[in-house]
Amino acid sequence: MDTSHCVEATLWHPVAAAAELERGPRAVTLLGEDLVAWRDDQGRARVFVDRCPHRGARLSLGSVQDGRLACPYHGWQFEGSGRCSRMPAQPGFEPPASHAARSVEACEAHGLVWARLQAGSAALPDFAAAADTRLRQVLCGPYDVATSAPRIVENFLDQAHFPFVHDGWLGEAGVTETPPCQAREDAAGVHVTGCRAWQPRSNRLSTEGSWVSYDYSVIAPYTAVLHKAPDAQAGHREAIALFVCPMTPEHSRVWFVQATADGVSGDADLRAFQDAIFGQDKPVLESQRPRLLPLSEAASALEVHGAADLATMAYRRWLRRTGVRFGTC
Ligand code: FES
Ligand SMILES: [Fe+2]
Repeated sequence: MDTSHCVEATLWHPVAAAAELERGPRAVTLLGEDLVAWRDDQGRARVFVDRCPHRGARLSLGSVQDGRLACPYHGWQFEGSGRCSRMPAQPGFEPPASHAARSVEACEAHGLVWARLQAGSAALPDFAAAADTRLRQVLCGPYDVATSAPRIVENFLDQAHFPFVHDGWLGEAGVTETPPCQAREDAAGVHVTGCRAWQPRSNRLSTEGSWVSYDYSVIAPYTAVLHKAPDAQAGHREAIALFVCPMTPEHSRVWFVQATADGVSGDADLRAFQDAIFGQDKPVLESQRPRLLPLSEAASALEVHGAADLATMAYRRWLRRTGVRFGTC
């Protein structure tokens, strides 16, 4: 797939959990490109095209040796910069620059490794600015989903599905009317305010149902944040971020970061709650046709909308404005 002229190739995307790299190189896919994520001798996360420049073997099948990525086929070793510094078949030979692996820009944030395929001016999605840093943050996932990244963002913004998909959890079958909210988009993203939902079990510690108030923001094409109403007594504001890696047009990898005031539950318990919620979303998400989000003028005739779709409509308008087209039709 040629993503060389896509806006999305110039954006940062999450490709792996930072902790995964402790177990060795990881094969990942971003925008249809096979990549390998690994950690070098400085402890820095690196992302290369997953193809050895020698005979094209997958570097992700290799290992990290002395802080260098070693190819599984003839053992060539690559430094963090991509430079080849050892060819075991010719131990005395100084490999030239042409023998380098192709490196992709990479960094770490929010417990994830991020990569971008091309230089660009867009900053990393700033969940740190959007979340209360006094709160504990727990990374949940990955969840692999057979659908496009924008379908997953829309599901995150969609409140009317709660009583059907999350009956007894984020919604209740008898309470189906979606209270009105406001949605607008600007250059920075989509802002949805004034949302309210009756939730029997809004978090792991809930013991009874309550009306929950929250806002949403879409801060990058495949990143959104839900903010719960501020806790007036404690002075903090819980949040959940959705981070989606667009692997191929119809396959995505999802992580959530919970910024939570829950100081009682263990990380595994909080992850189990998120696993249960997203396990309810996944089959419906994978059933949607087309898997690509209908965004073009021709494709948008495929779907109809109601007043409860304000947030997803704003997202579609904003996506059109950004020029991002990966995962849409
Ligand atoms: S294919 Fe990688 S070292 Fe030969
Ligand atoms: Fe859901």
